[in-house]
Amino acid sequence: MNAIQEEFVLEVQSMKKYFAIKKGFLQKTVGYVKAVDDVHFYIRPGETFGLVGESGCGKTTLGRCTLRAIEPSSGSVLFRDRQGSVRDVLKMETSDLRAIRRDMQLIFQDPYSSLNPRMTVLNIIAEPLVCNGLLSGQALVDRVKQLMELVGLNSRHLERYPHAFSGGQRQRIGIARALATDPKFIVCDEAVSALDVSVQAQIINLLQDLQEKLHLSYLFISHDLGVIQHISNRVGVMYVGKMVETASTKDLFASPKHPYTEALLSAKPIPDPRKKSNRIILSGEVANPANPPSGCYFHPRCPYAQDVCRKEAPEMKQVAEGHYAACHFAGELELRGASVS
Ligand SMILES: Nc1ncnc2c1ncn2[C@@H]1O[C@H](COP(=O)(O)OP(=O)(O)OP(=O)(O)O)[C@@H](O)[C@H]1O
Ligand code: SF4
Ligand SMILES: [Mg+2]
Repeated sequence: MNAIQEEFVLEVQSMKKYFAIKKGFLQKTVGYVKAVDDVHFYIRPGETFGLVGESGCGKTTLGRCTLRAIEPSSGSVLFRDRQGSVRDVLKMETSDLRAIRRDMQLIFQDPYSSLNPRMTVLNIIAEPLVCNGLLSGQALVDRVKQLMELVGLNSRHLERYPHAFSGGQRQRIGIARALATDPKFIVCDEAVSALDVSVQAQIINLLQDLQEKLHLSYLFISHDLGVIQHISNRVGVMYVGKMVETASTKDLFASPKHPYTEALLSAKPIPDPRKKSNRIILSGEVANPANPPSGCYFHPRCPYAQDVCRKEAPEMKQVAEGHYAACHFAGELELRGASVS
């Protein structure tokens, strides 16, 4: 385990998650889907790290491996616990893991399917507190009421069932539940993607208010660049299981250093229909993580590809202060940024 810098709350090192592909009657392993392949990132306290990339590039898998909700193939998740000591979540025994899970929570995408329809709001929000044996009786009810108020729900509705609430309110229930154990770090996986645009804005504002109030750190996963730009302090761009660029939000949007980021930024639909978009249509399919191309995985779609790109995988390198990109020509190419919303 390498040391974690003083100012980090979390550092993920060399994270890999390979899913075995099994075939035939004997279920023989015939290959691997490299969903997350040697990824590194860190998060500072009170910071939002946005994770973006096309569908299937490994965002959810990375988020879940970080929480050890699924078991990674290898790597480390160094996390500063509430006592201030740094622990590797991937090396913890079950009993320690249960304790650390109080500090690390997940907010799901779908507020409809993630809440048990047969449980009252009281029981849904109380569940993590009951499972961890933290509160019971009136203290538990009081805590649930406090959490409901915190996320903008009427605490008199605690005996209602999820179907009585709108999508936005259900997402608030999910957030209250995630906050129940007073965590420090939350993975928000497409937390607003299933909501109407007006409701999205309310939930994003709520997440930002809560972050400030409770000094939370977020790993915020989304394929919506506008949302990512709005909420993130720093951004990581993933392509086929790899992190290809990380930078402050401002630098990444204004001055991308990886051709894939440039392509993503220019592919974002421009909301004003009177404006003509000069978008790059990404040519070719996303590479298959079970059988990725040689060298740089982006080379079949990259307008700047050279021979070396087909032969050698580029290493992540620093191209400016706090700005990293995995491209042989990072720092040399003049790439276009975006001035999205
Ligand atoms: N349990 C699993 N078994 C096998 N392959 C899986 C499993 N879960 C995910 N994958 C594969 O891993 C890759 C990454 O999937 P993941 O869901 O992490 O992507 P994502 O970036 O979150 O996509 P989206 O934007 O659609 O949510 C995909 O190729 C997916 O098919
Ligand atoms: S390494 Fe080559 S193919 Fe890959 S992004 Fe850079 S220029 Fe394009
Ligand atoms: Mg996903």
